[in-house]
Amino acid sequence: MIVENGIEKADEIILKSAERPVDAAYQEEDRAENMLRPQYLEDFQGQQRIKDNLSVFIKAARARNDALDHTFIVGPPGLGKTTLASIIANEMHSEIRMTSAPALDKPKDLAGILTNVSENSVFFIDEIHRLKPALEEMLYIAMEDFEIDWVIGQGPAARTMRIPLPHFTLIGATTKAGSVSSPLASRFGINLHIDFYGSEELSSIISRSAHILETDITDGAVEMLARCSRGTPRIANRLLRRLRDFAIVLGNGTITEDIVHEGLDRLGIDENGLERMDRNILRTIIEFYGGGPVGADTLSISVGEAVESLEDYYEPYLIQQGYLKRTPRGRCVTGKAYDLLGLKGGGNADQGLLF
Ligand SMILES: Nc1ncnc2c1ncn2[C@@H]1O[C@H](COP(=O)(O)OP(=O)(O)O)[C@@H](O)[C@H]1O
Ligand SMILES: [Mg+2]
Repeated sequence: MIVENGIEKADEIILKSAERPVDAAYQEEDRAENMLRPQYLEDFQGQQRIKDNLSVFIKAARARNDALDHTFIVGPPGLGKTTLASIIANEMHSEIRMTSAPALDKPKDLAGILTNVSENSVFFIDEIHRLKPALEEMLYIAMEDFEIDWVIGQGPAARTMRIPLPHFTLIGATTKAGSVSSPLASRFGINLHIDFYGSEELSSIISRSAHILETDITDGAVEMLARCSRGTPRIANRLLRRLRDFAIVLGNGTITEDIVHEGLDRLGIDENGLERMDRNILRTIIEFYGGGPVGADTLSISVGEAVESLEDYYEPYLIQQGYLKRTPRGRCVTGKAYDLLGLKGGGNADQGLLF
């Protein structure tokens, strides 16, 4: 009956969500990233509180022989949301199905997956803030009652069929917690907020990755790299791979502090981990908008960068590092940004000019 109603196509949907630009460099990056992805909690570096809590919840769920509670993972890109989702499945000894909200178009796309999940397995929806309202409603019932209502037929002959689902764990990940509706957010029993990593945590990630990549790196170089990785494991791993190239071509294969220095310079990254675009954003706010406030859309046009990457990638780190502030009227730079660029002047955000 499920097949007749066209909601059997789970595998197709999973494939659709895996569609990526088939660019060779992109595939290479993906492959390299997967190779460095920790499989179990003990390999996941840092974020001790998250790990401690998760390990209790997982042990308890396993002892009850039940699915883990639905889990919500929030944090900027590259901090380990997808990694944690697959670790949870591994630790639960269960299957995982991965998709992302933009790949789910019609209710039958979601119903197709939900009716095919197995008992106690994990269903991961990335970018869950982009889920369409009709699908979100289906998800509410699925999460709460483990069933979905499916309408068969049309017009007066239409009737609703209630389809029971196995107990499963929904893991929803997002970079934008504020864009997730509260009815959806409130249905997650476990909330994990991943924050930027400290230098020590990043150092252990870099050492682990260097070991897997069979690359020699000095302790000084590990520390330097950790400071320039924007608190982000994905960036630390990417920089490590690029520096490995520099070490092979410019040195004797070992990543030393000199290699890190030279390599980062060539990549346009300064000793604080800021990229050209970061400095461009700060400079633009100062030179064109008197230090702010300026709205995200205007700023995005001025610097020629998509508003999503401005909001998801550049701003969180600039804010965390104290160069930028978000105010109700827009973005403002701080005095630290003026100092960084060697410019004279205020830091509207510091002076309370805006409130
Ligand atoms: N805590 C961690 N320990 C070790 N490696 C990590 C950790 N968090 C993330 N990584 C690495 O960073 C990369 C990006 O992580 P990912 O889970 O894809 O981030 P997100 O889904 O949040 O964008 C992965 O390849 C993974 O190897
Ligand atoms: Mg991810």
